[in-house]
Amino acid sequence: MFITFEGIDGSGKSTQISYLKDWLEDKGHTILVLREPGGNIVSEQIRTLLLDSKEEIDPRSELLLFTAARAQLVSKVIRPALKQGSIVICDRYIDSSVAYQGYGRGLPVNDIHLINAFAINGLVPDITFIFDLPVEDAALRAGFRSTDKKSSPDRMEQSGEEFFKKTKEGYLKIAEDANRRIFVVQSNEQVESIRLQVCSIVDTCLKSL
Ligand code: TYD
Repeated sequence: MFITFEGIDGSGKSTQISYLKDWLEDKGHTILVLREPGGNIVSEQIRTLLLDSKEEIDPRSELLLFTAARAQLVSKVIRPALKQGSIVICDRYIDSSVAYQGYGRGLPVNDIHLINAFAINGLVPDITFIFDLPVEDAALRAGFRSTDKKSSPDRMEQSGEEFFKKTKEGYLKIAEDANRRIFVVQSNEQVESIRLQVCSIVDTCLKSL
């Protein structure tokens, strides 16, 4: 089973990923947790380029780099792990490109779907959680607002609140258009209530396999 977590920076994905991992391990499953961009040497190198670069990166180039990192992760890590029977949980995947590069940067969403279809070669998640919360709350958690910054923001986090508003709206459009794989979670609810929602959705999906 392949599960992805999505949402703007600071939406609280990582806490829930670690709860879900523990819960599934307690049930006897082997779990692999990955993050995008990253999860293998080549994709981590692309991550450094994308997040730490002081150079301006053209949005099309940005899209292709994120997608190249994804293609490498799918072929070298995710497919082999799924083949061995592991459950793979990935922090971000194709919907991040649609939300950030499509709705955030303004690139044509259809092109993003085409480029990603080529990169992932058919590997669509079984479940995708989209964590939704007001941009202002996410900003406080992630520190991408200059006044509230706790540590220095990466290149994406420096894109500003307008960008994150468009990205958040993008995620909600993805959820509207999409299919049954997507579940929107209100991430300003109690952590325990979110944990129960996430586990129950995964449990239902596991039983249907
Ligand atoms: P990261 O620190 O992993 O963010 P988070 O902890 O919020 O998941 O940084 C990844 C950044 O890259 C994040 O700002 C989202 C962005 N991103 C894209 O713009 N497009 C993509 O396709 C992916 C995978 C990430």
